[in-house]
Order: sequence, then C-alpha cells, then structure tokens
Amino acid sequence: MRCNCTAPRQTRPLLARTGAMVATAVTAAALLLATANPAGAGEHIYDIGNKTYKSECGTCHVAYPPQLLPAASLRLIMSGLDKHFGSDASIDPKAAEELGRYLAQNAGQRRGLEGTPAKNPGAGMTPRISTTPWFIKEHRKVADTIRNNKTIGNAANCAACHTRADSGDYSERSLRLPR
Ligand code: HEC
Ligand code: HEC
Repeated sequence: MRCNCTAPRQTRPLLARTGAMVATAVTAAALLLATANPAGAGEHIYDIGNKTYKSECGTCHVAYPPQLLPAASLRLIMSGLDKHFGSDASIDPKAAEELGRYLAQNAGQRRGLEGTPAKNPGAGMTPRISTTPWFIKEHRKVADTIRNNKTIGNAANCAACHTRADSGDYSERSLRLPR
C-alpha cells in the first residue's frame, strides 16, 4: 500500500521479540493481560498480531491497537476507507472481510473510548483514538507538549513518544518524551 499522506511513515522494522520460546511465552502472557484489560492497568502491550492489519493499516502510521476503539468506531473507519482523513486507504474486499472479523474480535470495550465526531478535526465523521475521552484524560499531562512540539505534529503520532508503538507496546518502559 502506497502512502501519499502527511502522517509519518513507519520505517523501522518490527522489533523481533519472539525469538526464543521464553520470549514467546512472556509475550503471550502480556497479550493475555492486555486483552483481558483493554485499556486499563497492566503492561499496555496490545496484540496487533494480524498480518493483514499490519500491512494494510500500518504503512502510513503505526498500526493503532484496535483495542483502543469500540467496535462501532472501527466499523465506521472501515466503511469510509476511500475518504480516510484525506487519504485513500481502500483495500480489496477479501482483506476488508478479514479485517472486519479481526477488528470485531479485538475491539475495545472499556468506557471512554467513544469519540465525538465534532471533536475530530480534519477527520469528518471518522473516529479517532486521540480524541476519545479516555485518550484526552490519559494524555492531559502532555497536551501542551503535543501542541507546542513541532516534531510531534499531533496526538495521532503515537510513535513520537511511544517508541515501540509499531509493535503495540505502550508500556511506560518504552515511553520517551521528545525534547
Ligand atoms: C494511505 C494512508 C493510510 C492508510 C493505508 C491507513 N491510514 Fe489511518 N490515517 C491516515 C491519515 C493521514 C490519518 C490522520 C493522521 C493525522 O491526523 O496526523 C489517519 C488516522 C487514522 C486513525 C486516527 C488516529 C488518531 O487517533 O488520531 C485511525 C484510528 C486510523 N487511521 C486507522 C486506520 C486503519 C484501521 C487502517 C487500515 C484499514 C488505516 N488507518 C490505514 C492514513 C492512512
Ligand atoms: C506527546 C507524547 C505522546 C503521544 C504523541 C502519545 N502518547 Fe500515549 N502516553 C504519553 C504519556 C506521557 C503517557 C503516560 C501518562 C501517565 O501515566 O500519566 C501515555 C500513556 C499512554 C497509554 C497508557 C495509559 C495508562 O493507563 O498508563 C496508552 C495505551 C497510550 N498512551 C496510547 C497512545 C496512543 C494510541 C497514541 C497515539 C494515538 C499516543 N498514546 C500518543 C505520551 C504520549
């Protein structure tokens, strides 16, 4: 998928975390935690294990954790991919069907994930994670940093601060605020 958008392109390869059996077991445990507790306490490492999702939804920006949006918002996104934040992100019907299933199974269930379309600058009716009440509350301490730091651009640029966002890792360990 080619990207003609302004969003930062992911160039770093996915970090290889699954080399050893032990690592796999640890990862699996962390994923279980994240799944059982979509955006609550815990490790904040989200399972973005679907290859089609990564290749179709992780080229223009990081593959955002589906766990951070409710099913209805994800369906809205999928139904408007031809007009996706000013980009054409359309995918073929077979991939769309697979992603529809994947997203339905991995959608977030916690309160505060519903966005208000009116609060989605530049996005029309397409939901954002970065405008949900949950996100705003969670990021209130860095709201000024996001506004003032030109290298970040906007809150959708998760990887500016969450250095391993491309692998679904939003843990405190991998958090580095840009100066
Ligand atoms: C052709 C490029 C492109 C592709 C492919 C693409 N997107 Fe996007 N996406 C964008 C742009 C551009 C934005 C707006 C980013 C910004 O505001 O800086 C965006 C924003 C988003 C946001 C909102 C981010 C936030 O919280 O502010 C979500 C969610 C999203 N995309 C999901 C998806 C999903 C799911 C797919 C795969 C089906 C996908 N995207 C594929 C270009 C793309
Ligand atoms: C300007 C830097 C910055 C950007 C950009 C950013 N975050 Fe964060 N994020 C933070 C900080 C700082 C925290 C820790 C907040 C705290 O614990 O007070 C955090 C916390 C989180 C958490 C964990 C919440 C918790 O309960 O500890 C998740 C999940 C998260 N961010 C997801 C995202 C996603 C998804 C994006 C992009 C759509 C994003 N963040 C963009 C700085 C950022």
